[in-house]
Amino acid sequence: MIGLRRIDPDEFTLRLDAVLDVYVAAMNPPADQIAGRKVIMGNHAANPGFACLFAERSDGTPVGVAYGFHGVPGQWWHDVVSRALAEQNGEASARGWLGDALELAEIHVHPDYQGKGIGRRLVRGLCADRAERTAVLSTRDRPTAARHLYRSIGFVDLLTRFVFPGGYEHYAILGTVLPLRD
Ligand SMILES: CC(C)(COP(=O)(O)OP(=O)(O)OC[C@H]1O[C@@H](n2cnc3c(N)ncnc32)[C@H](O)[C@@H]1OP(=O)(O)O)[C@@H](O)C(=O)NCCC(=O)NCCS
Repeated sequence: MIGLRRIDPDEFTLRLDAVLDVYVAAMNPPADQIAGRKVIMGNHAANPGFACLFAERSDGTPVGVAYGFHGVPGQWWHDVVSRALAEQNGEASARGWLGDALELAEIHVHPDYQGKGIGRRLVRGLCADRAERTAVLSTRDRPTAARHLYRSIGFVDLLTRFVFPGGYEHYAILGTVLPLRD
């Protein structure tokens, strides 16, 4: 039985290695990127409106993790995506989607536990009871489980084939209005 539990920023910081274990198992990133990712994740815990959910086994081991926060100017992702959205669709669109947004930063489920509805529960749980007008995220622009999951929850494409500064892979930027529809 996998239960969901809210994790506050202090516990998130203490359990960062366990978060990273799930991330590494799910994403299989190049080894030389893991230390940098840990620093970025650790810094995220200080962002306004930070919220995190663990999907845990009964022994307390997390097998899924999702977190997000309130996006504000000055945050790297927020600024890059705002600029790109304004360039493509105009300032009003950028403000409409990102001006009062929950930014879903990470959602990962350990491969042994994927396909059991945990990812859906994590996204829905994180978006529940938020005050923001929208929720936004980026994901690889490929026919992945994540792409399928977000679309089925109600996220729409805001930008596709987007390449982040310094990167080379294509990403999709997605958004939905909150609260999520049933
Ligand atoms: C994306 C992820 C978090 C989803 O978690 P999950 O627990 O497997 O998701 P769920 O079981 O809730 O299922 C999600 C949906 O994707 C579908 N799905 C599963 N694998 C799929 C695949 N390879 N291709 C397309 N759809 C797939 C499921 O059938 C389900 O859809 P349905 O309810 O319409 O049948 C998980 O697959 C994961 O961690 N992937 C690797 C890391 C990642 O990409 N994270 C997201 C970064 S933005």
